[in-house]
Amino acid sequence: MELGPYIIICICAVNAVVWGCPQQCKCKDNNTICKGYDIKDFPSHIPSTTKSISLSCTNISSLKPADFDAFSETLTKITVNNSRINEVQPHTFDKMHKLTTLVCSGTELVSLPEDLFQKLHSLTLLRLSNNKLNKLPSSLLTSLQSLKILDLSKNNLSSIPEDAFQGLIHLETLMLQRNVIRKLQNGTFHGLRKLKNLYLQNNNLKVIPGNAFEELGNLNTLHLQNNVITNLPAELFAHNQQLQKLYLSNNQLSFLPEAIFLKLPILQQISLYDNQLQSLSINTFGPMVLQDLWLYDNMLSHLEENVFSNLTHMQLLVLSRNRISHISPGVFNGLNELKEISLHTNCLTSLDETVFRGLPKLVNISLENNKIQYIPENLLEGGIMTIFQNFHLIIPLFKDH
Ligand SMILES: *[C@@H]1O[C@H](CO)[C@@H](O)[C@H](O)[C@H]1NC(C)=O
Ligand SMILES: *[C@@H]1O[C@H](CO)[C@@H](O)[C@H](O)[C@H]1NC(C)=O
Ligand SMILES: *[C@@H]1O[C@H](CO)[C@@H](O)[C@H](O)[C@H]1NC(C)=O
Ligand SMILES: *[C@@H]1O[C@H](CO)[C@@H](O)[C@H](O)[C@H]1NC(C)=O
Ligand SMILES: *[C@@H]1O[C@H](CO)[C@@H](O)[C@H](O)[C@H]1NC(C)=O
Ligand SMILES: *[C@@H]1O[C@H](CO)[C@@H](O)[C@H](O)[C@H]1NC(C)=O
Ligand SMILES: *[C@@H]1O[C@H](CO)[C@@H](O)[C@H](O)[C@H]1NC(C)=O
Repeated sequence: MELGPYIIICICAVNAVVWGCPQQCKCKDNNTICKGYDIKDFPSHIPSTTKSISLSCTNISSLKPADFDAFSETLTKITVNNSRINEVQPHTFDKMHKLTTLVCSGTELVSLPEDLFQKLHSLTLLRLSNNKLNKLPSSLLTSLQSLKILDLSKNNLSSIPEDAFQGLIHLETLMLQRNVIRKLQNGTFHGLRKLKNLYLQNNNLKVIPGNAFEELGNLNTLHLQNNVITNLPAELFAHNQQLQKLYLSNNQLSFLPEAIFLKLPILQQISLYDNQLQSLSINTFGPMVLQDLWLYDNMLSHLEENVFSNLTHMQLLVLSRNRISHISPGVFNGLNELKEISLHTNCLTSLDETVFRGLPKLVNISLENNKIQYIPENLLEGGIMTIFQNFHLIIPLFKDH
């Protein structure tokens, strides 16, 4: 008699697991996967033990609290992609205390209710990429105290409220690329002390506040390429001593303020090509472990003595497609590891015979597409094998030796 209710519950539970899988879905090991454009409504009778649900390539247009009622409390992972979701109703995720991953990508969201994520204290990954979000309510994200990865890329965001990321103290990766962000506020990234990767490429950024990255002491990789940045504040990277990769190519920089890269001791990669740089001052590059420096497609006309002298690890220096008409002796001072210099497609008419001296590892120099008439005989004195790629005018001169 006492056992009665238990037996009934057991049978129901077994039934739910074995028979409860909706027709359009596959249910296995507490994972439910539903796929197909013929799915227009949220599948009902999803097993109550479901821990992970994935909806992909469906015609579902809305998510609401009732959809998840039977299994909200056990759910740890929701993945929705390539579906027609254009609405998530308020409180849909309120009971999901165990949810760690929430992906809604390739859907048609334009906005989200302000308190939608309020109860998701365990969430570590939130991916909302490839939607049409054009507004980020100030308090939408601020309860996500466990969040490590936030992906808002490929949306229609034109601005970010100053306090949008407040409280995200564990955030390590923030993806904002491929939006239409025009400017950043002073405090947008304040408090993100664990942030390692910040993706801001392919936006419409023109200026960046000098203290924008001030509190990002653990920043490792910063993507700012493909924007319309015209100048960088001198102090912009002053507090980012863990920075290893910095991408600035394809902007509209015409100069770099003095000391801008002085305190980046472990910087390994920097991209500056495709800007409008007219000159580089000494005191631009501090000591760092940079191996490649790509400066092609700029407007450099001359280079000052010693300008690269702190780059003692550099192996490749690309200066092609600029307007360099003169190289002073001493420009390449200090480049003890340099193997290759690319100088093609510039306006050089002559070369000083000492210009490549003191570069013990240099093996390749490309000089084609300049206006050099004459190469000094001693240019490569003491040098190792040098290949002048396609340097038709010059090769015969060297064959004589
Ligand atoms: C499914 O979830 C139930 C309830 O939490 C658990 O007892 C069972 O071991 C899980 N099954 C698998 C395959 O993880
Ligand atoms: C999915 O929705 C689209 C747009 O409403 C419609 O054109 C298409 O026929 C639907 N697919 C199915 C299988 O119902
Ligand atoms: C979308 O779902 C499909 C099928 O589950 C999966 O293969 C694909 O990797 C997912 N795409 C994204 C961006 O998550
Ligand atoms: C992006 O948002 C703007 C308004 O801010 C709107 O006019 C435009 O149509 C949106 N674009 C897309 C692709 O949704
Ligand atoms: C942003 O910071 C700069 C420098 O600290 C300050 O001059 C400016 O007033 C600040 N702007 C705002 C809107 O807080
Ligand atoms: C080399 O780095 C130091 C800082 O460590 C700086 O003072 C100096 O100006 C830099 N030299 C050049 C030529 O940029
Ligand atoms: C020098 O140039 C040749 C021909 O382009 C290339 O194969 C080789 O890898 C280059 N060597 C270095 C050290 O850059």
